[in-house]
Amino acid sequence: MKHYIDFHEDVSVSELDELLDTAIKLKAKTKAGVFEPLLSGKSLGMIFTKSSTRTRVSFEVGMYQLGGQPLFLSSDDIQLGRGETIADTAKVLSRMLDGIMIRTHDHRDIVDLRNYGSIPVINGLSDDQHPTQALADLLTIREHKGALRGLKLAYVGDGNNVANSLLQACAKAGMHISVASPQGYTCPEFFVRQAHTDAAVTGSIVQMTADPFEAVKDADVVYTDTWTSMGQEEEKKHRAEIFAPYQVNADLMSHAAKDAIFMHCLPAYRGYEVTADVIDSPCSVVFDEAENRLHAHKAILVHCLLR
Ligand code: CP
Ligand code: NVA
Repeated sequence: MKHYIDFHEDVSVSELDELLDTAIKLKAKTKAGVFEPLLSGKSLGMIFTKSSTRTRVSFEVGMYQLGGQPLFLSSDDIQLGRGETIADTAKVLSRMLDGIMIRTHDHRDIVDLRNYGSIPVINGLSDDQHPTQALADLLTIREHKGALRGLKLAYVGDGNNVANSLLQACAKAGMHISVASPQGYTCPEFFVRQAHTDAAVTGSIVQMTADPFEAVKDADVVYTDTWTSMGQEEEKKHRAEIFAPYQVNADLMSHAAKDAIFMHCLPAYRGYEVTADVIDSPCSVVFDEAENRLHAHKAILVHCLLR
């Protein structure tokens, strides 16, 4: 059974190539108006205990386009939100569905869903990781730059779920990655170690720094995310002060490669992690990146559910 929970554990180097190839093929078909019902008769439960625009819409539309049935399961409405255990939820849903996509806080809950259930589980974001975003990001970079291996991505800002999955994904893809975060807000050592392990195989260089200018030097891709992730709202003011020197603005972008692209998983907060003149400029590919959630997720759905 194929799960898609953790980029390091669940996606091999060859599977990554397959997923990207599948996403590109499915995207071309979608653009041509061809929708093959590959997942006809299959149902995907989509559990959300946090807000979502892109992840929800892309998985829901993706299932429809593949001929399957998506079910939006807000934790406000299902018994999980009233204290039913993850174990019981996993066992019940496994009797009725063909797969579960879940967005929640505690990564452990996603692992438990996998352990207690008997159907594929897809991680739609936890406090620690955002692996479906990372696949759409690689797809976007491949489209804009033609290849992945040997390119440099600079991630500037909070060492959060998006950054952790990018570390894992870049190392798998043979891309160099430099992460610049303030002290105390860098990616957990666990993810850095994993990235180094994969980098030793793929030849990518992994750099952790506190200096945003060092990170973006010669970067082909400059990436940032919100300074205040879901669940951290009370820290917003404090974080805005700590992260101010890490804002991606025109000055910082001028230190990247001449043809560097700007990426952001969205939602974005202009004037905080990125200035409007960068995110709304021609170098920004954020809406291609958002669209690619649909195509990448369809590849993940086929990978996990078609068997
Ligand atoms: N990037 C992303 O995951 O967006 P949503 O929170 O809207 O799903
Ligand atoms: N780091 C952000 C990503 C949102 C898609 C968060 O967790 O809120």
